[in-house]
Amino acid sequence: MIKRFFSSTVDIPRTAAVPRHVAIIMDGNGRWAKKRLMPRVAGHAQGVERVRDMVQACIERGIEYLTLFAFSSENWRRPADEVDRLMELFVLALEREVEKMCRNGVRLKVVGDLQRFEPRLRRLIDEGEERTRENRRLTITVCANYGGRWDILNAVNAWRREHGETRALREEDLTPYLSMSYAPEPDLFIRTGGEQRVSNFLLWQLAYTELYFTDTLWPDFDAQALDLAIASYRKRERRFGRTSEQLQES
Ligand code: IPE
Ligand code: IPE
Ligand code: MG
Repeated sequence: MIKRFFSSTVDIPRTAAVPRHVAIIMDGNGRWAKKRLMPRVAGHAQGVERVRDMVQACIERGIEYLTLFAFSSENWRRPADEVDRLMELFVLALEREVEKMCRNGVRLKVVGDLQRFEPRLRRLIDEGEERTRENRRLTITVCANYGGRWDILNAVNAWRREHGETRALREEDLTPYLSMSYAPEPDLFIRTGGEQRVSNFLLWQLAYTELYFTDTLWPDFDAQALDLAIASYRKRERRFGRTSEQLQES
């Protein structure tokens, strides 16, 4: 059986006024807290609240996939107490939110190298994914201990384990092994917090994604801010390598 896969470079994806998949780098929690003379972790706690609002806003707008960069493979370089607090917040969020996801038809996926997490957190992730696996209203992907380079290497190694090294890899060979093979590629990328970089987020998957950067700090990013990003997205002409004239003809 040929596996179904999504690729903007193999097929031209269908596009619509509302992005089907929004991927967000939720940056600026630390600066939000610092401005208020609060510890950085207070910014992270506030950031979790924003995630809750964003899920609701995405459901209301008919967005099908919301992907959130929660912890990068490089974030282990932070002070140990900040890392510990981020892990605690992750545990708390899973304990509190999975029930609501079940009620609201939300599917949870967590992607990244999860082996480095404590067994308790891993168990909550497994349970959350299992309990919500049939839901399709909105798929939330939390990228945790995720790096775009890890994702590509992980896929190559998985492919090699299954097929041996005898033939050259084609794009369609590899795509099913990437960590987000179940989702179309992001239509819209948002980075809050003012930095204009990708920071090892979805390197492969962002090939033809529309990029949007805002100075708004993540703990201040609300539904209205999301609508501004979507409005900017609507003005873009998504050519996928073709000319503008070709688009007008079709
Ligand atoms: C993003 O906010 C959250 C994580 C990386 C976990 P930051 O903590 O990076 O906030 P700033 O960039 O220091 O303001
Ligand atoms: C990117 O933010 C990672 C997450 C939001 C989880 P960082 O704050 O870690 O990125 P850099 O270090 O400024 O590039
Ligand atoms: Mg940051």
